Amino acid sequence: MAVLDGKTAVVTGGSRGIGRAIVERLVRDGAEVVFTYARDDRAAAAVERAAAAPGVGPGSAHAVRGDLSENDAATRLMEYAHRKLGALDILVNNAAHARMAPIEELDWHDYDRLMTLNTRSVFQTVQFAARHMRDDGRVINISTVGTRRAWPGSAAYAASKGAVEQLTAVAARELGTRGITVNTVSPGATDTDLLRSAHTDETLAAVARATALGRLGRPVDIADAVGLLAGPDARWITGENIRVDGGEV
Ligand SMILES: NC(=O)c1ccc[n+]([C@@H]2O[C@H](COP(=O)([O-])OP(=O)(O)OC[C@H]3O[C@@H](n4cnc5c(N)ncnc54)[C@H](OP(=O)(O)O)[C@@H]3O)[C@@H](O)[C@H]2O)c1
Repeated sequence: MAVLDGKTAVVTGGSRGIGRAIVERLVRDGAEVVFTYARDDRAAAAVERAAAAPGVGPGSAHAVRGDLSENDAATRLMEYAHRKLGALDILVNNAAHARMAPIEELDWHDYDRLMTLNTRSVFQTVQFAARHMRDDGRVINISTVGTRRAWPGSAAYAASKGAVEQLTAVAARELGTRGITVNTVSPGATDTDLLRSAHTDETLAAVARATALGRLGRPVDIADAVGLLAGPDARWITGENIRVDGGEV
């Protein structure tokens, strides 16, 4: 029997990068997963197909499209996923956007979209979980090691993730008596489209050299930490912010 047999999960931003690896890990562990994405129908369909391939399961993956930077999209997606799955045991807030710009140049429209996606949608899904998650559930919010540094240009992104970390700590206290754990996973530089769009190859080579393990992270490195927290062995870990960065910080 797989560790997540009978469990249901929602993963935001599961069509690419770290989110896709998380979906694949939860499916392998036996969960029934609904994952969200914003634009790329082909990428989402590829994840569904990969999850359904022989020998990958025993879980399943179902995609639902929705732009979480729009007003109440997160709540609507959670309502849809809850109806589809019939219950909610695991929530992974992974979808995010990294808008890099110096403070003096940042546009308010961009700021608002980023905050709605990276922070408000997380609050909305956690609120839904607080109301509907079954006992002994798991909430895992993806942040970044960037909150422990002060990279010029990252003010809005780092602020959005700092808010998620504090929300996580408070939610752990509020939901704990129901056996629900709430944790943050903070990746270091992980080789995805988001990372490649924000940095040059030279910068990434320098970051890779700066890790203790001498390479960039891979999406599966982060997904395996999430898989651990989602499973029964992590029942006594809550309110934590776990760096998964190969010793980058
Ligand atoms: N990669 C890194 O180095 C790194 C480091 C630290 C933290 N993180 C964090 O790890 C998480 C995943 O990052 P990643 O690098 O895997 O990102 P990614 O490769 O850009 O993938 C982002 C995922 O989120 C979805 N998404 C984007 N905008 C969305 C929106 N407005 N509404 C709903 N879904 C949306 C995308 O769907 P579409 O493709 O359909 O748009 C995609 O599935 C993020 O929280 C990020 O902050 C990443």
